[in-house]
Amino acid sequence: MKGLILSGGKGTRLYPLTYTRAKQLIPVANKPILFRVIEAIRDAGIRDIGIVVGDTGDEIRQTVGRGGRWDINITYIEQPEPLGLAHAVKISRDFLGDDRFVMFLGDNVIQGGISPLIADFAHHGEWNSQIVLTRVKHPEQYGVAELEDDRVIRLIEKPREPKSDLALVGIYMFDHHIFEATDAIKPSARGELEITDAIQWLMDNGYVVYPYIHRGWWIDTGRPGDMLDANSLVLEELEPKIEGFVDRDSQVDSRVTVESGAEIVNSVIRGPTVIGENARIINSYVGPFTSIYHDVLIQNSEIERSIVLENSVIRDVPARVQDSLIGRNVELGRSPVKPTAFKLTLGDYSRIGLL
Ligand code: G1P
Repeated sequence: MKGLILSGGKGTRLYPLTYTRAKQLIPVANKPILFRVIEAIRDAGIRDIGIVVGDTGDEIRQTVGRGGRWDINITYIEQPEPLGLAHAVKISRDFLGDDRFVMFLGDNVIQGGISPLIADFAHHGEWNSQIVLTRVKHPEQYGVAELEDDRVIRLIEKPREPKSDLALVGIYMFDHHIFEATDAIKPSARGELEITDAIQWLMDNGYVVYPYIHRGWWIDTGRPGDMLDANSLVLEELEPKIEGFVDRDSQVDSRVTVESGAEIVNSVIRGPTVIGENARIINSYVGPFTSIYHDVLIQNSEIERSIVLENSVIRDVPARVQDSLIGRNVELGRSPVKPTAFKLTLGDYSRIGLL
């Protein structure tokens, strides 16, 4: 089997972070989401992975490379315009050949990996496709499946009045018959070749599409709130380890990871939390569900349930920072210069919630 990861898109709902970085490269619990996706596929025993890239292709290529660090082969496939998930499959035909494959959206995080799913599909040669479904609160925001007994009878992309609460998770398995479908379907109202329509075409033409209902958590990290939720869920599953330095005046509980080169001085850290390589936490409090990425400094401040990206500085902040997503090279602190006022240099689409 092969793997196909879709990693295009502009990530507009995550502006301003995604002005300067591909959304799939934003870290959750200090590891880019795309790396988590690659590892989930690798852990299922797949060695050949194609990554479909768009505008942010250069950055993704540079950060991910050819796959050597995971002992796999990565091939990049250019999608010149974001014309839909089924379009991405269509242009990947040379890479995929006649192999069965799993397609995974590069900004999705799922509990428990996909090894059992892949094994299931690999052992059922008679299935032409397997789709992963999960129950959601707002099915109208997703592709929605209607089941009869344990068979899928209909799939509709973002229906106004959903007939079930079973959403299509961004993980799909196919054999080569999917190319007949991607050739046959027409663009949807939003101008995209929808994978949902392609799967419906398979069913309408007598191919076997088998559902799998995922019962753990699954997060599509489109918005800042989703990133913080995903971060919390992944942190809870992290195996804690202390590789950095913790001084005697600090309290670090058993659910905290301190990566190598990090320093905790006269501070309280409550897990689940991760402090990245060469980060320094001085006279501060870092509360649960926080990911501090590498080379960050937090001094005389308090922070909880947040993500802070590399090289940022949070110093002498007079109130606790909470539920926040802070980008790279950000400086947050008190200004010694009069008048006493908020002095802000914010990127476009920044969002600040004051006390
Ligand atoms: C896509 C699919 C949709 C699926 C969703 C999962 O939607 O079209 O069926 O439920 O991913 O994240 P999009 O993110 O393109 O709106």
